[in-house]
Amino acid sequence: MLTDEELLKKAEEASAFSYSPYSHFRVGAAVECGDGTLYTGCNVENAAYGCAICAERTAMVKGVSEGHKDFARLAIYSPDSNVFCMPCGQCRQFMAEFNLDMELVIGRNDGAFRTFTLRELLPEAFTPESL
Ligand code: THU
Repeated sequence: MLTDEELLKKAEEASAFSYSPYSHFRVGAAVECGDGTLYTGCNVENAAYGCAICAERTAMVKGVSEGHKDFARLAIYSPDSNVFCMPCGQCRQFMAEFNLDMELVIGRNDGAFRTFTLRELLPEAFTPESL
């Protein structure tokens, strides 16, 4: 288990790979699974703007595609954000598929961070149990 600071550092490192020629807003994410396995991701934009994928979803998709979906904690960092880089609604919903109790470590580019649970950020969520 990494500390929150260490997980955020992994997210920061991943932000260096951001492909964001349109927004120029670099984002990195790092997700830790229950067994400690780590996946990182960055945002990947596209000339067809709507095809962009956020850093958080990149990291989770990497995990699922390698057999891991027990996501316990996820850190988000943008070197371009001087406010806490909160996950978008689509990413919150994507996370809710796997674990509403996921812990979120949200960074700001001065090194400060805040922690939340996904349940706090997406109350009364629609989940697999809703079907
Ligand atoms: N973005 C993320 O990757 N994660 C967030 O938490 C917020 C937004 C990306 C999407 C897009 O590539 C850029 O940041 C600007 O919205």
